[in-house]
Amino acid sequence: MEKVYSPSVARNKEPILEVLKQYLGEDDRVLEIGSGTGEHAIHFAKALPDIHWVTSDVPKNHPMITEWLKFAQLKNIHGPEKLEVGKHDFPEKPFSHVFTANTLHIMSWKECKSFFKLIGKRLREGSVVFIYGPFNYGGEYTSESNKSFDLSLKGRNEKSGIRGFEDVCKGMNKAGFKLLKDHEMPANNRLLIFERLPYGKL
Ligand SMILES: C[S@@+](CC[C@H](N)C(=O)[O-])C[C@H]1O[C@@H](n2cnc3c(N)ncnc32)[C@H](O)[C@@H]1O
Repeated sequence: MEKVYSPSVARNKEPILEVLKQYLGEDDRVLEIGSGTGEHAIHFAKALPDIHWVTSDVPKNHPMITEWLKFAQLKNIHGPEKLEVGKHDFPEKPFSHVFTANTLHIMSWKECKSFFKLIGKRLREGSVVFIYGPFNYGGEYTSESNKSFDLSLKGRNEKSGIRGFEDVCKGMNKAGFKLLKDHEMPANNRLLIFERLPYGKL
């Protein structure tokens, strides 16, 4: 299989990396949900050799990820693990943080809620969750391009769509996380950073 390239990853991988560097340290193990082509994983694992990056996605995307992993030959990258949120539990392998990009607007809201619940159950106090993508604020689009993107998503699947920042924060709070920071990113995207609160502080 030929390697698959994502034009959006080429544009956003560097700005995302700059933020990840602020939060990740030696021996951290990051589980990525919905790795897609696998290019984010390669870029981050190469730039941060002291961390471990565990890729995952629905099984049909595994050949695409495997192709990139074979090409990169990095010791600190793992997977792909079989993980369809709403269907599978998280892999048993240990991980300390979770990263996901451009997935919440693809998943149904029911799957998003399963995602919040799973990470709440599996992450320990102090773990960080990185959620990248476009979000609405106060029920409003932040740009015309996000509006057209949302309409095209809904045209493909009525259950997909840009999520509300407040709804995501509410779902994450309920699952035991507090918002640490909402980073502005290029092209009307955001990188939301959450931290797992101590159990019992819900
Ligand atoms: C738009 S792509 C984003 C891929 C990559 N993260 C990126 O930013 O380029 C959405 C990804 O979410 C995955 N996905 C969709 N529904 C999912 C679910 N229920 N559980 C896990 N992954 C899912 C898809 O297989 C796909 O890889």
